[in-house]
Amino acid sequence: MSKAMVQTKELCFKYKDGKEFALENIGLTIEKGEFVGIIGSSGAGKTSLLYTMNGVIPHHYRGDFYGEVLVDGLDTVDNTMDRISRLSGSVFQDIDGQMVATLVEDEILFGLENYGIPRDEIESRVNEALEKVGITHLRYRTISSLSGGEKQKVALCAILALKPQMLLLDEPTAELDPQSSQQIFRILKELNEKEGLTVVIVEQKIMLLSEFVKRLIVMEKGKILFDDEVREVLKHSQALYEAGVNCPRVVSLSNALTQRGLYKGPAPIHLDEAETMVKEILHGKI
Ligand SMILES: Nc1ncnc2c1ncn2[C@@H]1O[C@H](COP(=O)(O)OP(=O)(O)O)[C@@H](O)[C@H]1O
Ligand SMILES: [Mg+2]
Repeated sequence: MSKAMVQTKELCFKYKDGKEFALENIGLTIEKGEFVGIIGSSGAGKTSLLYTMNGVIPHHYRGDFYGEVLVDGLDTVDNTMDRISRLSGSVFQDIDGQMVATLVEDEILFGLENYGIPRDEIESRVNEALEKVGITHLRYRTISSLSGGEKQKVALCAILALKPQMLLLDEPTAELDPQSSQQIFRILKELNEKEGLTVVIVEQKIMLLSEFVKRLIVMEKGKILFDDEVREVLKHSQALYEAGVNCPRVVSLSNALTQRGLYKGPAPIHLDEAETMVKEILHGKI
């Protein structure tokens, strides 16, 4: 049987300076090729959970670590951060803090050279990564001249050139307008579907998550509150609200109609599905 991309068992973590456990008893399996979203209010432990998947916890941030995290079968405690982070490429919200170069091309080259990729392989890796993200035209631009969305694409491109098995993204669209946010998600979906890349994304925009991811994990106070298909999770609008997560409006509407016995069909997520629901109710079909 092939190994899971990530497997955690009874994972607990408290930062050295933390008062409470940032992660409590997390048992999670992410298979290769999954596209998983993580949502939850601020301080719920989302970033910490991602850190356990790229080795930042326990190698960079120290503290009390209990349980086990395996990334592609490798125990993150026994293996170096370098080894783990080569499996899981990370893109974080603070994009300017993540970039090191002045030119787009150099940003991509930097990681490749750091990884000791042979010279004759570098050019094809750069071209391939630029194409995958659709930013070949930005290759010779200075990073400071780019928009937020373009910068985020460059960061993604630089990570992809390193050919990770899994992408970890922490609120990558936080500073982006709706259109650029959509674009980032579309790129991720394509990478996931065409290349089988495992994608784990922390994101606050529930509409984007419900449109693009299959599996949604909701975190609250260091624990996993829900972990299921998006549609299943969204049925719990009240519990989500209490955990600081607002359901998309169409979902709240259909949940309310279902509770009142006015609707019995599947919860709509997309607008066209909501349209079907309203039509069915109006025509007295339900
Ligand atoms: N470097 C740190 N030192 C001490 N406590 C931290 C540190 N980083 C995060 N925490 C605490 O861990 C908890 C989870 O934080 P975090 O994983 O950043 O949540 P989220 O990403 O969901 O907002 C919070 O209570 C936060 O205060
Ligand atoms: Mg965070």
